[in-house]
Amino acid sequence: MTQETSDALRLLLTRRSHPAVSLEGPPPDDETLNALLTAASRVPDHGKLAPWRFLVFRGDASVRAGERLAAIAEKKNGPLDGDMRRQELERFSRAPLVVAVISRAAMHPKIPLWEQELSAGAVCMNLLTASHAAGFAAQWLTEWLAFDPDVASLFGLDTGERFAGFIYIGRPTAQPAERPRPDLSEIVSMWTGE
Ligand SMILES: Cc1cc2nc3c(=O)[nH]c(=O)nc-3n(C[C@H](O)[C@H](O)[C@H](O)COP(=O)(O)O)c2cc1C
Repeated sequence: MTQETSDALRLLLTRRSHPAVSLEGPPPDDETLNALLTAASRVPDHGKLAPWRFLVFRGDASVRAGERLAAIAEKKNGPLDGDMRRQELERFSRAPLVVAVISRAAMHPKIPLWEQELSAGAVCMNLLTASHAAGFAAQWLTEWLAFDPDVASLFGLDTGERFAGFIYIGRPTAQPAERPRPDLSEIVSMWTGE
């Protein structure tokens, strides 16, 4: 293995999600954000459809997003108590940068919907990995908002578009403890054809 490949592999073997609330500013500058999104969109994509897009939240816009989320949550659930309300208000301000990855998979004569959706998952994963590679930390969350039609409308999703995830990105403040990983012996088998 060359030094370069072993460094890349080490990166993959050491990446962990960091809780969104633990992520600090400052956020990636515009040039770094551009590099992260370029890396994120460099994924296998059957048919070259780019069946995904990004919506970026930071600064005051994250605060405004929180206000709108709290209003939607109250419309559905009635008045929120102090903690619950704060949770919604601060949801997008937990990290200095939030990138919504939006799947725009659509029926296609040759490319199955499933393959387009998998490609959106790959975009999310690339964004996590690229963030880690650039010295940031990140977490992929969906939470209630990814599945709520009013939130979809608030953020301008078209019919058929869905949130693949919200990627929270910031500076790490602590290294999370490793979590148990699947035992390869339980998930890998060799097909021999015998
Ligand atoms: C599609 C998807 C959605 C997720 N949504 C949530 C979520 O809403 N809340 C949560 O606590 N973790 C969620 N997770 C899990 C975390 O992103 C992450 O997998 C977990 O914290 C451990 O990750 P690591 O193995 O990268 O360290 C989600 C993961 C995926 C793949």
